[in-house]
Amino acid sequence: MQEEEIKDERRGRDHTWLYLLSGLSLSLVLLSRAEEGLEFPNFDGKDRVLDINERNYKKALRRYDLLCLFYHEPVPASKGLQKRFQMTELVLELTAQVLENKDIGFGMVDAQRDAKVAQKLGLEEVGSLYVFKDDRIIEFDGELSSDTLVEFLLDVLEDPVEIINNAMELRAFERMEEDIRLIGYFKGEDSYFQAFQEASERFQPYIKFFATFDKSVAKHLSLKMNEVNFYEPFMEEPAILPGRPLTEMDIVEFVHQHRRATLRKLRAENMFEVWEDDMDGIHIVAFAEEEDPDGYEFLEILKDVARDNTNNPYLSIVWIDPDDFPLLTTYWEKTFKVDLFRPQIGVVNVTDADSVWLDMSNDEDLPTAEDLEDWIEDVLSGRVNTEDDDEFADDPENDHYILEESDENPDTDEEDDGDD
Ligand SMILES: *[C@@H]1O[C@H](CO)[C@@H](O)[C@H](O)[C@H]1NC(C)=O
Repeated sequence: MQEEEIKDERRGRDHTWLYLLSGLSLSLVLLSRAEEGLEFPNFDGKDRVLDINERNYKKALRRYDLLCLFYHEPVPASKGLQKRFQMTELVLELTAQVLENKDIGFGMVDAQRDAKVAQKLGLEEVGSLYVFKDDRIIEFDGELSSDTLVEFLLDVLEDPVEIINNAMELRAFERMEEDIRLIGYFKGEDSYFQAFQEASERFQPYIKFFATFDKSVAKHLSLKMNEVNFYEPFMEEPAILPGRPLTEMDIVEFVHQHRRATLRKLRAENMFEVWEDDMDGIHIVAFAEEEDPDGYEFLEILKDVARDNTNNPYLSIVWIDPDDFPLLTTYWEKTFKVDLFRPQIGVVNVTDADSVWLDMSNDEDLPTAEDLEDWIEDVLSGRVNTEDDDEFADDPENDHYILEESDENPDTDEEDDGDD
């Protein structure tokens, strides 16, 4: 009897092993499939980027839906700089390869050799990348990496206005709190919608335009017929564009006036545009990792402050999530002398990257919205600035030494823990 039981048990166990084995082999199959499913593109060596010149530029413009041109300095003589140039070229080649089945042309325009072509095309800034779509020219103001560029070009290829038809699409629209968004309610694709669409083309892909022809979607957003709403990032309530119906110019002007948000997130796709849009030579910069509990909390406080001060035209805070810029994090920590594992807020002079930071290093708690508002007021009034500590540091070589010696210097708060 006992033996029988043991045998049965064994048999049972054998079955279990069988199941386990088959499960194992199944997962092995899946595993090898996964290996095949994650093949990063490698440059295949095929030249896809055109050398644009007098003879071929018109044809290139006609030939593609989008033409993406890098306007560059003449190829340098030194080996090291040549390598850098080749890396940029490689970014374009890889982008061209990845987007091969889209109708996008790529080219290089040499600022010296092709100066005439550059002038005819309206290329202004050497080192910039320009995208031609229909009769428009869009400057790419983002990080020159294939990831960012591919994403950008796919956005430019899309229709500039996205239509919202149902509650699900509406929810997605409502979740996009980081973007500047406009939404209009129209009867259909009539002339008012067309004016809206033409306005949208001027801002694509940096500002998102949506439209709905659906009564219940419009009702949910309290949109009247031919009305357009403007959503500033992180704000709960939209601004209503005055007047309706609106002309293309009405919309364009409103966007130009309201484009600088009270709180704006720095993103790889438009980081240079944001950075160049400084406020009299400075930026108020907040570093906060959204996935970190402290960072998240700090960001919520920042949003509150931004909502309270949304009508202040002199206030614009640039929020940077260090997770989005792994290649810049160590550089920022060194340049600004801050610890980016913690939330930080400070003032940065964009001319020399000189900065001062709100001291939060010794506090158990994050600053309250009131603390932050007081500090921001001090910044806007000039009481907190990047210059006051500079009188000791005329000689930039002494900068570091003097910063560490000076007790009042807010820059040192990171380094000398708690002797205030
Ligand atoms: C920024 O730095 C530059 C160069 O040091 C200085 O001339 C300028 O006054 C500073 N700007 C502000 C707003 O502090």
